[in-house]
Amino acid sequence: MYRLLYPMRTFLIVSGTEEHTNVMTADWVTILSARPFFVGVAISPKRYTWKLIRDHREFVVAVPRDSQVKDVWIAGTKSGKDVKKTEILSLKFIPSKKVKTPSIENALANLECKLIDMRDYGDHTLFVGEVIAYAYDESAFPNGIPNLNAGFLMHNAWNEFFRLAAEKKYMMEE
Ligand SMILES: Cc1cc2nc3c(=O)[nH]c(=O)nc-3n(C[C@H](O)[C@H](O)[C@H](O)COP(=O)(O)O)c2cc1C
Repeated sequence: MYRLLYPMRTFLIVSGTEEHTNVMTADWVTILSARPFFVGVAISPKRYTWKLIRDHREFVVAVPRDSQVKDVWIAGTKSGKDVKKTEILSLKFIPSKKVKTPSIENALANLECKLIDMRDYGDHTLFVGEVIAYAYDESAFPNGIPNLNAGFLMHNAWNEFFRLAAEKKYMMEE
């Protein structure tokens, strides 16, 4: 019943190189350390992405906009084993700053990761990446704080997504 931890944000994981790029959707993404900045992504060994990250030892975590939801769905339901997803998605890929794996144009953010560890937990593998470079849309993160109206994409159930809307905001006294 992992759905008890939903709704969650959803992300795009880019793997491979400029010549051979793949992208899959992933909800199970987390921050593991602030300094150094480590992120973890739980990826099933069934995914083509699993093999590409293991082989190339780098990946990009892209933060999609809700306007990219159709591509998020395709990236999450088709496998790079069967189709060249870069040819069927409307997403455009751009060179990253420090890794060979491309970033996604017009995403809210792209986090470039070097693989530092991979470890199996049950039916998924936790890929741990050190974020060695990043780029983001300044209007989505003014002063480094998320703009809640930027179009953050949330995932609720299998084919059900929604755009984050700050219906009620709580500001705590420090
Ligand atoms: C919204 C959504 C979230 C997903 N989250 C994950 C995830 O966190 N980990 C994972 O291994 N697969 C996840 N998947 C499944 C993969 O994205 C899917 O199997 C994809 O086709 C794998 O592509 P690939 O074989 O090209 O790597 C998710 C799918 C969707 C639609």
